[in-house]
Amino acid sequence: MRILLVDDEPALRELLRATFEGAHVQVEEAASALEAEARIKRRRPDVVVLDLRMPGMSGAELCARLKGAERTKRIPIVLLTGADDEEARRAKRSGAEALVRKPFSPLDLLAIVEELAGKTDGTPVRAKRRSGNADEELLLYARDLRHLLELERGQRSLLQDSYLETVTALATALESKDTRTHQHSHRVERYAAELLATIDKKTLEEDPAIRYGFLLHDVGKIGIPDGILHKPGPLTRAERRRMQTHTVLGEQMLGGVAFLQGEGLRIVRSHHERWDGKGYPDGVAGADIPLGARVFAVADTLDAMTSDRPYRRALRWTAARDEIVAQAGKQFDPDVVDAFRERETDLRDVQRELAAA
Ligand SMILES: [Fe+2]
Repeated sequence: MRILLVDDEPALRELLRATFEGAHVQVEEAASALEAEARIKRRRPDVVVLDLRMPGMSGAELCARLKGAERTKRIPIVLLTGADDEEARRAKRSGAEALVRKPFSPLDLLAIVEELAGKTDGTPVRAKRRSGNADEELLLYARDLRHLLELERGQRSLLQDSYLETVTALATALESKDTRTHQHSHRVERYAAELLATIDKKTLEEDPAIRYGFLLHDVGKIGIPDGILHKPGPLTRAERRRMQTHTVLGEQMLGGVAFLQGEGLRIVRSHHERWDGKGYPDGVAGADIPLGARVFAVADTLDAMTSDRPYRRALRWTAARDEIVAQAGKQFDPDVVDAFRERETDLRDVQRELAAA
């Protein structure tokens, strides 16, 4: 939809433009009736929003001219009028399809314009009558702003949901390539989120990229040949080195994805680092390893030990727990191991819940 906005007040035009463009309505502007006529001649708008009181030719005169000409008489017109009754009477006589009294809510005006754009029979649209003081104007704008912010919040959350769905689909596709790790990504994501929430709930809630990083930690395995990925026996030194590149490959693959930047990407690169510095790809130690990756390392090992693999049966949960506790300060961050001990029952419930699903 394209509207022509005719008003001599630049501030009002700007406010209406912002509101209308937020609803994907194209807005052309004219500061006077003459300029509006020239624009209508060049390109027919779907609706004209016209201020009644303008220097030079008034809005009512322009409205009457447009309604009197064959070429323009079917363009719906909304007249913006002042509060006094004489103005309203003049406006009514000019043949406009709708009258809107100032002050008005831009969102109410948008609703009227949208309704008119779908109409051709010229039936007048009634606008709500308002008292017309400046306080009410501000209240109306504030209410509109609140409404627009709510809409924007809703859009953002929809977008986050669709990111998560895309990332989950990719993680599932990865699992079908690496069949030994069925449901692995989902379990480790849940374990790691529980552990991180115990240590730093705020970070987890404020940065959705962290969960994406958990889910996509092994995305770089797409670049590892199946011969190595599915080799039944132990890997040679060269094969192991190649396998280890999945961390850096994953980071490169996702490097251009805006919503994964920051901690999400760091998890993908650093999820095989060890607290004692003997991990890969960088061999960093202690708190130099990103927190998300330190948490993830415990979740990943827990899942690896408690899942069946083609070459060995799963360990009992208690045996896996003892091993994780024994690795505090060696393979794992001792604080993360403490969080694991605190939340062990919850993690076990997650495992049972996903197994049942
Ligand atoms: Fe990995």
